[in-house]
Amino acid sequence: MNGKLTIPKVQKMKAAGEKIAMVTCYDASFARLIDQTGVEMVLVGDSLGMVIQGHETTLPVTLTDIAYHAAAVARGLTKPLLIADMPFMSYQAEFGAALKNAGLLLKKGNAQSVKVEGGEEVVELVYRMSRVGIPVMGHIGLEPQKVHKYGGYKIQGKGAAEERELIKNAKALEEAGCWSLVLEGIPLEVAEKITQSVKIPTIGIASGPHCDGQVLVIYDLLGMNPEFKPRFVKRYAEMGAAVTEAVKNYVDEVRSGKFPDEEHSFRRNLIALPTKKRKIS
Ligand code: KIV
Repeated sequence: MNGKLTIPKVQKMKAAGEKIAMVTCYDASFARLIDQTGVEMVLVGDSLGMVIQGHETTLPVTLTDIAYHAAAVARGLTKPLLIADMPFMSYQAEFGAALKNAGLLLKKGNAQSVKVEGGEEVVELVYRMSRVGIPVMGHIGLEPQKVHKYGGYKIQGKGAAEERELIKNAKALEEAGCWSLVLEGIPLEVAEKITQSVKIPTIGIASGPHCDGQVLVIYDLLGMNPEFKPRFVKRYAEMGAAVTEAVKNYVDEVRSGKFPDEEHSFRRNLIALPTKKRKIS
């Protein structure tokens, strides 16, 4: 826990009016880089199904996938709080299985919290998890695991009844024990009202500026997929184009024989191999 940000510290940031930054991450190399940025929280999201595994939705992601990636990320992090997503059907069917699955993400994935999507249908589960010491981040609004129910990724909470439902669910999740809430794909006015209705921090994505913090998928903010340009993503780099350019240059140099040159090669008299004394019997 040395130097690691804790849940109570993140919660105090809301009370102090300090904004909270969160990004997703899926491997140790990115985790080491992110660790140096001052970001408060890192999420091993089931978005890995799309950006890492190449699926169209998050639904095929398994608990084993999340535990594997969370453990890798944990090895690269020293400061930010680590949260692991509970994938589709790892918590919806039975309380017992859900508790064990969440426990595994803390034990094997080294996460400090899990995240579950859902409103009143997960309230009892959140209560049971919190009671046994498994911190839960809630996730309401556009819940990607319900993509087939919505018929696509659609902004939620546009109408008055939907708004009331979201506020009611946010309050119920807080009361059940959620220590924070992701608000995804919600009009900014509604996200503001939810944020004012609860004492726990709200972390927004596609939900405007009035949430207590923000989260983006790391590959989106780095521009890893040049074709993916939704309105809510701001790109802070063009890594996709940079990767393609770098690999093209490498291919050209391999073909032309420019790489590897003398500087990137070894000569016999330059190789300093460790010498081992052999026992001569
Ligand atoms: O899976 C994910 O990455 C998420 C965030 C975008 C909130 O749930």
